[in-house]
Amino acid sequence: MSPSDFASAVLAWYDQHGRKDLPWQQGITPYRVWVSEIMLQQTQVSTVLAYFDRFMAALPTVKDLAEAPEDEVLHLWTGLGYYTRARNLQKTAQIVMAKHGGEFPRSVEALSELPGIGRSTAGAIASLGMGLRAPILDGNVKRVLARYVAQEGYPGEPKVAKQLWEVAECLTPHARVNHYTQAMMDLGATLCTRNKPSCLLCPLRSGCQAQLLGLQSRYPIPKPRKALPQKRTLMPIIVHNGEVLLYRRPSSGLWGGLWSLPELDDLQGLDHLASRHGLQLGAQQQLSGLTHTFSHFQLAIEPWLVRVGSAPGSVAEADWLWYNLATPPRLGLAAPVKKLLKRAADSLTAGESP
Ligand code: ADE
Repeated sequence: MSPSDFASAVLAWYDQHGRKDLPWQQGITPYRVWVSEIMLQQTQVSTVLAYFDRFMAALPTVKDLAEAPEDEVLHLWTGLGYYTRARNLQKTAQIVMAKHGGEFPRSVEALSELPGIGRSTAGAIASLGMGLRAPILDGNVKRVLARYVAQEGYPGEPKVAKQLWEVAECLTPHARVNHYTQAMMDLGATLCTRNKPSCLLCPLRSGCQAQLLGLQSRYPIPKPRKALPQKRTLMPIIVHNGEVLLYRRPSSGLWGGLWSLPELDDLQGLDHLASRHGLQLGAQQQLSGLTHTFSHFQLAIEPWLVRVGSAPGSVAEADWLWYNLATPPRLGLAAPVKKLLKRAADSLTAGESP
């Protein structure tokens, strides 16, 4: 799709499906568009609807806003949250009155210098409110464009954002830029959603690289996760007569209340465990390890199959038990422990007598 085909497809979709009845789309002025864009920065349309008309009725011009008591502005903002937005709104109104003769400056560069107006908001005010050709790249549009070009890299990275801004710039048309901007926002909000996008209904379907690759869910690439800290632990699978020694984890903390294999820093710890439970240690065999990922670290588990020659019939301590592999009791097991017990059961039924 050429840039002009792209814009034509977006505009044709806008004519049929775009939103045209939002209050800030009526009686359009830079002031109204600016206030709505600031409200919409961190608040959904459905919430903003209840605030926008009330704000405009109370403060119909940029002069009214500049001269209002700060308390009045904050009162009108109460419930929208992120009150820095309201304070910046009034600062900007005062700058527009003092430095720009009461008119919003007519360039993205000058708009971006005003408090609370970033590059994308400046683009939205310029295109929606003034009909100037200016690209936008808010969260929704980022998603649409990242999919359209199958953009590699996390868009929060300056280098990646720069590439997406170039795409946005190149695709923005000269004619009907206000409708185009609104349509791009609406596409991102309604069809090109983060989960389960409605590609069948999308006007950009035939040119969308993510769609052509069948990789819509891959884009935009998410924020890279920091490498998790690594920990290691030894887990002895102590076997006697087809039963394995388990203990119950304390109710708070990792695997809280679940049954687990004992954990040791090294094999020497086995002697302590054996004397604690009256076990006679036999052959020890290392099994292949596994890694378990927690939210904040990774645990490398080194399992050892440890046979014991004799053991008391039951465990004296509460929260310890012999777990019968052939007739397993119904207990909550930590996930990797369940896996290791299955392996142990398989290796034991494969003929090796414990
Ligand atoms: N979010 C940000 N700007 C918007 C607009 N003009 N219409 C709908 N949602 C938006």
